[in-house]
Amino acid sequence: MDINKIRMEFPTLRSDSPPAYLDNACVTLKPDCVIQSITDYYTKTPGCGGRSVHRYGTKVSRATNEARMKLQRFLNAESANEVVFTRNATHSLNQVAHGMKWAPGDVVLTTDREHNSNLVPWIQLEKEQGIDHRTVASNQDNTFNLEAFEKACAEAGNRLKMVSMSQVGNLDGVQIPIKEIARIAHDHGALVCVDGAQSTPHMRVDVQDLGIDFMGFSIHKMCGPSGMGGLWGRYDLLDNLRTIQSGGQTVSNSTYDSIDWAKPPARFEGGLGNFSGMMATGATIDFLSKYDMNEVHAHEIKLNRIMTNGIKDLPGIEIIGPQDPKLRGGICSILMGNLPAHDIAILLDEAAGVMVRSGQHCVHSWFNAKGHSNGSLRASAYMYNTEDEARLFAETFSEAVHAFSAQ
Ligand SMILES: Cc1ncc(COP(=O)(O)O)c(C=O)c1O
Repeated sequence: MDINKIRMEFPTLRSDSPPAYLDNACVTLKPDCVIQSITDYYTKTPGCGGRSVHRYGTKVSRATNEARMKLQRFLNAESANEVVFTRNATHSLNQVAHGMKWAPGDVVLTTDREHNSNLVPWIQLEKEQGIDHRTVASNQDNTFNLEAFEKACAEAGNRLKMVSMSQVGNLDGVQIPIKEIARIAHDHGALVCVDGAQSTPHMRVDVQDLGIDFMGFSIHKMCGPSGMGGLWGRYDLLDNLRTIQSGGQTVSNSTYDSIDWAKPPARFEGGLGNFSGMMATGATIDFLSKYDMNEVHAHEIKLNRIMTNGIKDLPGIEIIGPQDPKLRGGICSILMGNLPAHDIAILLDEAAGVMVRSGQHCVHSWFNAKGHSNGSLRASAYMYNTEDEARLFAETFSEAVHAFSAQ
């Protein structure tokens, strides 16, 4: 992987003084091909796909179908009809949670370190429909506790209906053994929904090999357009899911008092779509497909090693998760004790052009449970980051910690 060559494809990295952009767990930068694809839609074929048969409509329909097929190959889904375009991972996970039929007492298991997008929908269902949402406690270092999971499955018995977990946590970069989890969950008769927001951009994700049932993911974290996400689901399951947005495109026919639902994926894509986003998703997958995702993952760990080694012995701070960066991908999330995380994040950008995220990263539940109301400062790397940028982060962060500690 030629990092310098990759960087030349990103307008924000080609500038005279590019930032050290290390907020990739939130959203990634966009390469030329994605930006061009968005522009092409608006300047060349700004029509409606899936319906209109004039030249614009036909071009959009073809391009969005191709994008769906590219995603199918990227995830190794069995059929392109298993891939639904959504607004983001949150939309995808809500479609699963609110699209299923629940009975009071049905058990849903998540981990204790989920993003709100894979927690709030389940709590909402608990309050509104009486499902029983339970969390499986992680090990002390935030790695997955398989024993606790097996125990939770056994305790739920035949009331266990769904296991919904993020493959990689945005809190700490920790990956959980989804394949093993899916096997155990299925043995208990439950379905498995994966929050793939932090895995699909950074590693090879093969939905058939994982043996899962649903997966939500964020195209905007994969160098793709913002306002785009995806939902993959096994076709038979999608075909039994209630759409959370009914209307145009979601039915094949209607009378004044009846409807025939359209088949997936159309049933879940109600209303006029984000066509430029769908077309640019095709460009996104073309871009990512040029690279070996294992190599991307290894590169991020190398950068994380530099960041980790540069800051781990600083006074008053603590890295969330296992200390070995190999177990945290490209994420270095740091508990700041009494130090002002937001002020330091602003300082890093203003003084050195280092962009990171500070706060609770939509994982309030974990920070509340652990009593870390100050949140963390998180640096997250991607394929286009360099070793120099990782060093710059470590140096400027260290200086900031020393300066604020002395006050
Ligand atoms: C693990 C995880 N799940 C879900 C989300 C929500 O993603 P989106 O913004 O695409 O809805 C994020 C975003 O940071 C995330 O990191």
